[in-house]
Amino acid sequence: MDTMDTKVFDLRNEWTDLDEAAEILRQGGIVAFPTETVYGLGGVALNPEAVAKIYQAKGRPADNPMIVHISGLEEVGLLAEKIDGRLEILAQAFWPGPLTIILPKKESVPDLTTGGLATVAIRMPDCEIALELIRKTGAPLAAPSANISGRPSPTQGQHVENDLLGKVDGIILGDNCKVGIESTVLDLSGKEPVILRPGTVTKEELSLVLGEEVLVASDQVGQTGDGLDRPKSPGTKYTHYSPKADMVVLQGNRPLVLGEIEKIKKERLSPHGVKVLDFGEKTSKEAARVFFSQLRSADQEDVDLIIAIAPENQDSVGLALMNRMLKAAGNNFKIIE
Ligand code: TXA
Ligand code: MG
Repeated sequence: MDTMDTKVFDLRNEWTDLDEAAEILRQGGIVAFPTETVYGLGGVALNPEAVAKIYQAKGRPADNPMIVHISGLEEVGLLAEKIDGRLEILAQAFWPGPLTIILPKKESVPDLTTGGLATVAIRMPDCEIALELIRKTGAPLAAPSANISGRPSPTQGQHVENDLLGKVDGIILGDNCKVGIESTVLDLSGKEPVILRPGTVTKEELSLVLGEEVLVASDQVGQTGDGLDRPKSPGTKYTHYSPKADMVVLQGNRPLVLGEIEKIKKERLSPHGVKVLDFGEKTSKEAARVFFSQLRSADQEDVDLIIAIAPENQDSVGLALMNRMLKAAGNNFKIIE
């Protein structure tokens, strides 16, 4: 039902002011915009009608809460209750940047924004377009990733146009996202800080800055947790992406993995063939930047099997990437030895 007239604001080569986009948001409309992680689909966080439109456009289950984006630290006070000293320390070190912090919510934050939870997720994005849009709107923006639910997160303006043209009021096109995977989600609402979703801000960095051990929720796919048994981030229970093709993640000694891939290719009679996602010599950060866009390419090329080679570098960013790979593959994972 692509019936809406979507206004496209192209800021890829030239900056234009964001007054019109901000006005759409103030009127309760929804507008997609770039951030440094992935593109977001925004609406005014304190306006439940705007938030309802976001769920509808994405086809997202309404119990999956949204991240609220701010442009200045003082906006936290509009959203969160019981702001503790750890927030300021983390904001100083990581904001603006790819870290989302969960705090007890103010009553004024609509249940729809937080999926009925008593907490709210907050992040200050490191992207001038996003920050200026929030400032001009004059209100924090709820924004999940700007993809149709079940498709890879969009890291380029073109991805957003493919998914949301005709379904939203506006799309702002900016640079390709430099981080490429979604923010680290850190829960500060309990006694101990807990990572609910891994990202490029790592457990080690967070622990160092806070001067205390940061835990990792044990139910994270592809991540050995700290044995914590607590409710996970609601979003982690949904399959994030099921490519049209089958997908498998292979891990092991590189020559053995490459040998296995040759074997798999030989055994298949398929017309469309196999796409291999191999990040080879890339650092974990470089690999994370391009992963989602490679998944989208695989869909376009209409392959019937995607083989992803697990990131060689199993540092924390490598594990965050592995988490996305395993989700995309529906946990289809093989160790080659
Ligand atoms: O990098 C990002 O975080 C991007 C950009 C646009 O900022 N946004 C993003 O939003 O990835 P989304 O909606 O696709 O993912 C938000 C995640 C979900 O897993 C959701 O369940 C979790 O954050 N979340 C949000 N609010 C929460 C809360 N109050 N408690 C626990 N988890 C929460
Ligand atoms: Mg998402």
